[in-house]
Amino acid sequence: MSPTQTSLLKNDARGIERAANILRTGGLAAFPTETVYGLGADARNDHAVAAIYAAKGRPSFNPLIVHLPDLAAVARYCEMNETAHKLAQAFWPGAMTLVLPLRADAGISGLVTAGLQTLGVRVPQHPVASALLAAFDGPVAAPSANPSGRISPTTAAHVAAGLTGKIDAILDGGDCAVGLESTIVDCTGTPAILRAGGVPVDAIAACLGHPVLQPRDPATPKSPGQLLSHYAPRGRLRLNADHAEAHETWLGFGAVDADLNLSPRGDVTEAAANLFKMLHQLDAMGAMHIAVSPVPDTGLGQAINDRLKRAAAPRD
Ligand code: TXA
Ligand code: MG
Repeated sequence: MSPTQTSLLKNDARGIERAANILRTGGLAAFPTETVYGLGADARNDHAVAAIYAAKGRPSFNPLIVHLPDLAAVARYCEMNETAHKLAQAFWPGAMTLVLPLRADAGISGLVTAGLQTLGVRVPQHPVASALLAAFDGPVAAPSANPSGRISPTTAAHVAAGLTGKIDAILDGGDCAVGLESTIVDCTGTPAILRAGGVPVDAIAACLGHPVLQPRDPATPKSPGQLLSHYAPRGRLRLNADHAEAHETWLGFGAVDADLNLSPRGDVTEAAANLFKMLHQLDAMGAMHIAVSPVPDTGLGQAINDRLKRAAAPRD
């Protein structure tokens, strides 16, 4: 990846407008929330979201949390249910993320959901985050703003130490008050805590009036990253294919004459941006046998290959 000039922006009106503009034009802007700093991108823009993964050097695609300014905005992208309404009322804005059914017409990049039909959403409380989200007026995908495998950042200096030269801007909002990631509650079935965090589990249970499933309970859904094939197309995948047989649909990479091509010019970041969209297209085409070109295991290629291996894993 070529180095990028990283601007450190003050949290005044001008800095917030510049950060919003960076998001509008498909760039990456780190911003403060009350939990940790997030690395933000327009959640509707496949290329911008792929750039998050590239900047973090994440070796696999995990779904990302979408940040929104208020409940009305959340309801545009997700189906709200009674549990969600209760929790939102009690804890938003705040250090809680809800996993909810994704609306079919939401327009969220498949790279944000990692191909799932659910969305993790949060309304943060930090005034700078709120101002940025209001100015941008759209969904902001943001994982913690640290290189993969490193500690989550709670100051602008932490973000700068890890990501200078890899992102467009850091909006400085001082220290994060909570300093711990949000509590994630899956509201798509029996309410379940997927990750403990800034809002205590007891407070969630007290709000709902009954105990909630916890990560150690066998009935709790696994965090998507741990599932071998959490999203896979219906067809069988044959990896590292240098051609397609007559009965196969070819998902290509590079200068090959494939049915769909992740990146005709052989660019792994472009391929990442196209990956989930094309896996869905293969389903829509009714492809039952899919040949996949080799993808180099460099940069985002590692995450792509991780996902393709999961999708190709034997299933029942
Ligand atoms: O406090 C936070 O949550 C921070 C700030 C920036 O908002 N964000 C954060 O994001 O910690 P990240 O990417 O480091 O962690 C997101 C977690 C992952 O464990 C992911 O598996 C889970 O959220 N997640 C996101 N969407 C999900 C979904 N649809 N279903 C289940 N889990 C989901
Ligand atoms: Mg993280």
